[in-house]
Amino acid sequence: MELDAYARTSKNQYAAHEKTRHLLQSSMERLARRCHFEDQGSCMDAAPRRRRHIVDLGSADGTSSMATLQFAVASLNQATDDDGPIPLHVTFEEHPASDEKKLRTTLDHHDDWFKRNDITRTITMRSFYEPLFQPESIDFLMSYICLHWLDSSALDDIATWKRLGIDSHQQELLLKFTKVNESSAPENVREQWRTELAHRHLAKFLAFRANELLPGAEAVLVMVGHPHRFVTPEDGGPGPLTRAMARCIARGDMREDVLRRTIVPYFLRTEEDARAAFNLAANIEVPSSTSAGLSSRPGALLELIDCHSFETITAGSDDDDVIGGAFDLFWSIHSNSVISAGATTDELNILKEETKQIFYEIYDAKEGILSTFVALVVRKRTRVQWGTGRST
Ligand SMILES: C[S@@+](CC[C@H](N)C(=O)[O-])C[C@H]1O[C@@H](n2cnc3c(N)ncnc32)[C@H](O)[C@@H]1O
Repeated sequence: MELDAYARTSKNQYAAHEKTRHLLQSSMERLARRCHFEDQGSCMDAAPRRRRHIVDLGSADGTSSMATLQFAVASLNQATDDDGPIPLHVTFEEHPASDEKKLRTTLDHHDDWFKRNDITRTITMRSFYEPLFQPESIDFLMSYICLHWLDSSALDDIATWKRLGIDSHQQELLLKFTKVNESSAPENVREQWRTELAHRHLAKFLAFRANELLPGAEAVLVMVGHPHRFVTPEDGGPGPLTRAMARCIARGDMREDVLRRTIVPYFLRTEEDARAAFNLAANIEVPSSTSAGLSSRPGALLELIDCHSFETITAGSDDDDVIGGAFDLFWSIHSNSVISAGATTDELNILKEETKQIFYEIYDAKEGILSTFVALVVRKRTRVQWGTGRST
């Protein structure tokens, strides 16, 4: 992702945060109750009040994360009867390839707010598809607009994913799509991604987090879902990036091989996909960090409190250029995949103009771009329900 450009345009999809405020608020109210009971116990033992640990996974440049964190902290503190804010430690996590300095600068701008609310903070630059925290060390976790990105960290060459399920004599299929959810992508390839990659990656993520959440702790997870008009436009054809690349190739402005290799490593899930991954998480073995050789299945302790998809409109906030704003967001998210496929600067610049042109052709400024998101709220139970092998 192009972080500078994303920082300027992330507000264009902030509706996905706003439309899930009620989930966040309810989680914060439950956290406030857990804090209250625990603090009563500490008070009787004359023990100091514990600083609670909140985690934001995939913080990008920090702009949207901070806006949502501020809402969460206000909800939490409003829900307590205690004097003064509940002391918190917040970990902002982001992919190691991202710009830590940019994230740090955004957070530093909010220094006064952190101090006023008795919040300490750290940044960790690690992939969320690996163990991140000590077992039972998180009081609340949130991740917005991230988990549709799959775990591509073990891959030297992302183009190998595009070829999954495509035989050597079907190479022309590689020129039909840049995202596996596009209507022009071969259905068997999409199905292979669904079961071999998307379900497994989200299940692995959930199992790691289940290990790290405290019993009773919750996570709010919001990801881009299917359908999203960036990927499946209303006319039923391929997405704007694939169309633009095909036009550039036809004019001789881009080598065919760039399109053959371009694949955006995300999978847009339906609610059913998210549920399937959640169920799979119960079977994932997570090695124990304390007892050598032992492992457990912490995902079996997760309870699904909520899982639903909802629609928003992605659009530029400038009334005069609604589509231009949506395009800028799109380009900040997707251009890196074209660079990874080996595009030259000239090819990339021409492609950018062509993609923008297609945006004005296929999207309606009045309507904006219809987008689906999937929201999950999960809670870690204190024990596996007897007889089922998993929590219900
Ligand atoms: C669209 S941005 C969302 C940022 C922010 N949470 C928001 O709501 O605007 C997706 C973020 O997920 C991050 N991301 C993707 N895969 C990741 C991974 N495996 N580990 C950590 N971060 C990841 C990207 O680097 C990017 O910053």
